[in-house]
Formats: sequence, C-alpha cells, structure tokens
Amino acid sequence: IKKIAVLTSGGDAPGMNAAIRAVTRSAIYFGREVVGIYYGYKGMINKNFQIMKSGDVSNIIQSGGTILKSARSKEFMTKEGREKAYQNLKEENIDALVVIGGDGTFTGARIFAQEFNFPIVGVPGTIDNDLFGTDFTVGYDTALNTIVQAVDKIRDTATAHERLFFIEVMGRDAGFLALNGGIAAGSEAVLIPEFETDMGTLETYIETGYRKNKKSSIVLVAEGDKAGGAFSIASKIEREYPQYDVRVTVLGHVQRGGSPTASDRILAGRLGVAAIEALLDDQKSVMVGIEFDEIVHVPFNKAIKNEKSVNQHLLRVLRMLSI
Ligand code: F6P
Repeated sequence: IKKIAVLTSGGDAPGMNAAIRAVTRSAIYFGREVVGIYYGYKGMINKNFQIMKSGDVSNIIQSGGTILKSARSKEFMTKEGREKAYQNLKEENIDALVVIGGDGTFTGARIFAQEFNFPIVGVPGTIDNDLFGTDFTVGYDTALNTIVQAVDKIRDTATAHERLFFIEVMGRDAGFLALNGGIAAGSEAVLIPEFETDMGTLETYIETGYRKNKKSSIVLVAEGDKAGGAFSIASKIEREYPQYDVRVTVLGHVQRGGSPTASDRILAGRLGVAAIEALLDDQKSVMVGIEFDEIVHVPFNKAIKNEKSVNQHLLRVLRMLSI
C-alpha cells in the first residue's frame, strides 16, 4: 500500500476533522501518500480528489464539520456508480481507503470492498453512537455536551415559569444521546426507542414529581417514530393534564456542530492512527473502534448489522435520581 485515500460521508460529526488530520498525518508518518476525496462517495465517482500534505490538515483539530465535506450519494448505490468510482481510484493509483462515517458509510464500503477486493478501513464518526463494537463514536461526546448545555439553559426558563418541557434530541433510531443527556442534565424522564415507555408510566413520573412539589420538569425525547416525537407526546400530556404549562423544544442540527470536546479529539486521533495501522497490517473491511479503552477491529458486517444495546443500568440510575 503506497497511496491511501480518505473521505467523510453521511451526517457530519464534530471530530471528523481531527480524524482526517490523524489519518493524513499517520499515513505520512509511515511514508505513504494521502489523497483527500471531497463529498464522500459522490466525490469518488466525480473524481474530486486532492493530494493531502501534512500542512493541509493544520489548524483543523478544533473545528466542527468536515473539510472534506460530506454527501449522500444515490449513484454509489448502483453497480455502475461503484464501477466508475473504482476506475477513478485505479487511475490515481490509490490502493486503499479510509472512510469516516456511520452506518450508511460502512454499508457502502462493505459492498465496494467486496466487489473490487479493495482494502477499506472505517473510522466511526457519528453523533448517534449507534455502531456495534465500539463503546464510543467520534462526535458523540461533543453532541452530548451540546445537549447538556442546551438543557441547562432551558431549565432556567422552565423553573422561572414552572413549565413542563419536552426536549427532542437526535440519535436516529438510538437513544444514547437522550438517555445519557438525560442523566447528565438531571431530567425527570427520558423516552427512547430501546425501551417502551407507555403514556401511563410517563404520566406517573410526571405526576409523582409534581405531587412532590416539583414545579418544573424536563423530559428528553429521542427523535423518531418509536418514541412518538416530542410534539405528539406533549399534546397527549396537555390533553390529559391541562393544568400543566407544556412547551416543546427540538434541538435539531445544533447537536451536529461545534468544536469537538477533548474526548472526541483524542478518540479521533487514536482511531485515525489505528485505521492506518490496520491497513498497513493488511486488514480489510473492518471498522476500528474502542472497547474498554483498547483499540478493536470489528468487521463491517458486525458493526452495521448488530444492534448496540443500551445499558439498562443507566435507565435505573436516571429513575432513581429523578425522584
Ligand atoms: O446520523 C446523524 C443524524 O444527525 C441523526 O441523529 C439524524 O437522525 C440525522 O443524522 C439527520 O440527518 P440530516 O442531517 O440529513 O437531516
């Protein structure tokens, strides 16, 4: 392996730049050439390539987003699109690839690697933390901190007006951001797709709080259909309990931006280096991850297909601490 390409794809996550920097610099450290692919798989098809030198990744460790941009590519889902992408890599003598992203990114990588017997290693970069085989994904810690800061602010106004707030957070189909955000911000309850919370149970939590003279409450709701969405839950509660002054906040894409936390930068650095070392060690079609503070290599298949479970103990902690 002489020339390694790197791309970011899917939803961006804070720390992706730190990961690009780590991949680039460690590859150069090992005497390899690096090519940046802009706009993810779309850029692979359109040959949006640029040689990356060490200086090209200076001054990016602290910034959110991704200097390589991100996109979702429909064309890459077709055989023709992937064939075009492969020809482009061949023309440029690129002989390995690091992809930074989540579920969708690794799904594309897995198919491409298999079709063309092409070495690809993945770095988990998503705020959702929903990849199996790694305790943390790059971007998750920063998003969690953004949620906590936002909820702290909402709590000020919730207390001043004695209101019940439903705050919707991201996570796609996973409740990691909602559950850990809820614990960190001291919310009264969380609604996450992994555990069904019927309306009766939610009412009990809220009612118990108010009976104990809580004047305001915060409930974190994971986005997505399973939990029902913050607006629909709020309107059900409002119908049942007209005495509560209910408000809804959807945090949205604010959770995707911002300067990465120290944890995310360190994780990105470690995983970026691990990705290059894995490629040079002839590993293929694996995601590098972290488990119990050790680097692990997880086949794409496992990382995508297995469901990462939420720790039941955390839900118990939240319930115990919100009485
Ligand atoms: O996967 C990251 C994520 O932010 C999810 O939490 C969310 O469901 C989705 O991406 C939003 O995607 P988009 O930016 O395309 O609206």
